[in-house]
Amino acid sequence: MEIKTQLLPHCVNISVFLLLVIRTSAQSLDYADALTKSLLYFEAQRSGRLPYNQRVTWRDHSGLTDGLEQGVDLVGGYHDAGDHVKFGLPMAFTVTMLSWGVIEYGEEIASAAEFEHALEAIKWGTDYFIKAHTSPNVLWAEVGDGDTDHYCWQRPEDMTTSRQAHKIDENNPGSDLAGETAAAMAAASIVFKETNPHYSHLLLHHAQQVFEFGDKYRGKYDMSVGVVKSYYASVSGYKDELLWAALWLYKATDNEDYLSYVIDNAHHFGGIGWSISEFSWDVKYAGIQIMASMLLPEVKHKEHRNIIRQYRSKAEFYICSCLSKNNGTNTERTPGGLLYIRQWNNMQYVSSAVFLLTVYSDFLSNTNQNLSCHGTTVTPEDLFTLAKSQVDYILGVNPNNMSYLVGYGTKYPTHVHHRGASIASYRVNKGFIGCTQGYDDWYSRPEPNPNVVIGALVGGPDRDDDFRDDRGNYMQTEACTYNTAPLVGIFAKLNQLTDLRLIASY
Ligand SMILES: *[C@@H]1O[C@H](CO)[C@@H](O)[C@H](O)[C@H]1NC(C)=O
Ligand SMILES: *[C@@H]1O[C@H](CO)[C@@H](O)[C@H](O)[C@H]1NC(C)=O
Ligand SMILES: *[C@@H]1O[C@H](CO)[C@@H](O)[C@H](O)[C@H]1NC(C)=O
Repeated sequence: MEIKTQLLPHCVNISVFLLLVIRTSAQSLDYADALTKSLLYFEAQRSGRLPYNQRVTWRDHSGLTDGLEQGVDLVGGYHDAGDHVKFGLPMAFTVTMLSWGVIEYGEEIASAAEFEHALEAIKWGTDYFIKAHTSPNVLWAEVGDGDTDHYCWQRPEDMTTSRQAHKIDENNPGSDLAGETAAAMAAASIVFKETNPHYSHLLLHHAQQVFEFGDKYRGKYDMSVGVVKSYYASVSGYKDELLWAALWLYKATDNEDYLSYVIDNAHHFGGIGWSISEFSWDVKYAGIQIMASMLLPEVKHKEHRNIIRQYRSKAEFYICSCLSKNNGTNTERTPGGLLYIRQWNNMQYVSSAVFLLTVYSDFLSNTNQNLSCHGTTVTPEDLFTLAKSQVDYILGVNPNNMSYLVGYGTKYPTHVHHRGASIASYRVNKGFIGCTQGYDDWYSRPEPNPNVVIGALVGGPDRDDDFRDDRGNYMQTEACTYNTAPLVGIFAKLNQLTDLRLIASY
């Protein structure tokens, strides 16, 4: 466990040591370590030509001809999970959440010396989105496809599967994909505003164009890009992504037109209609409602107070549901206290809830407000306590004493459903490993993976807190980029609080 001695005068070393002992014995967690590891994960998921400073060294270049068949350069971007398809929608949501984390907790990330890594994780995604947006009304949606990719078990460096690229355009619309990509680029433009103003401006320009395209040519992207249907079909449709994009563009530009879009379409697009207990790569309503609620205190939004209050009432439904304080419709919990939405990759909903709870808690506390859940008063601390309990569960405070963040602590999943991690590194074994050879020689091995996907958050336990660490159990042992992304900022905030408490108790 590392301690930030530079924050303290040298003479207090012994006391600090004692505090450290107390801290460790009280089972406190090393959030700084979790933060560092969470950012490493994005390097393991990189596709394309890896840079000289790549820290995850069991990976190498891959997908270097992506887009070539279609005459477009689509090298780069992220694998979404344990396969090698580059799915645009979850990739964009991942980048939006990473960016939101940096916007809210950038100082905390910087004081843990991880700011550069966080920016690199975002930029690896946004560089790809810029490439994928080849003209105002064309956005490349996906490279490769799930069916052929899943037929093989190979390292990304050996990939022999189809890398055909699929796009949306005026005749094949995809407002959900366009909306999320616009949101990601708008959010990232805020992140880069000070450190890289030229890049920030470029992202904003793309974001505005992609949003306009998505809004003008309306349709669900899974109707246009059929290969995505069994993998990342947009069940909630595109109206949530259009509202989401407009909100992010308003945040990035202060342009009233985007706010009007969010207000005028609030009813028709379901923004003030849907009460939903999940926030995910598909369903953005809770995120929209929480962002919209935070506009309420500002005087310049006075004229829209009525609509914003309706957004807030839905935001509060989400929060109260997580807190089990709604009348009837609450989010289920496992006996060990984990929020439980569904069997397949439940952790994605936990980490996104942790993020929204923490951001809303900060908002309430900064504006000196409590929340009322059906007549019961809830304080900002109540929201944060729940968020922290979920993070602590993830890091090992749970009935299995297991960290579900891979590589953290002493006990974590060792059979992660991940092609690259489960096969000897390309650097160790340069021989080609074929499509089905990987299944025969590596997938079915009982041994742990030879490579640890540090920082990956797996799908996690079932509704009884049970977890089976088996490569074939992909509902529980596969990790996704959008599972870890919301936690980056939260780990930094928790780390900062632990440091402050340490100083305060001294
Ligand atoms: C809770 O729900 C029940 C049944 O729908 C209703 O009768 C009751 O008034 C509700 N209570 C509150 C506080 O909203
Ligand atoms: C919030 O609720 C707590 C506990 O009931 C109370 O002590 C505090 O004064 C309330 N704060 C506001 C701003 O109403
Ligand atoms: C988890 O740790 C607690 C406290 O050390 C112990 O009582 C319990 O048996 C452990 N559970 C498992 C599944 O290892």
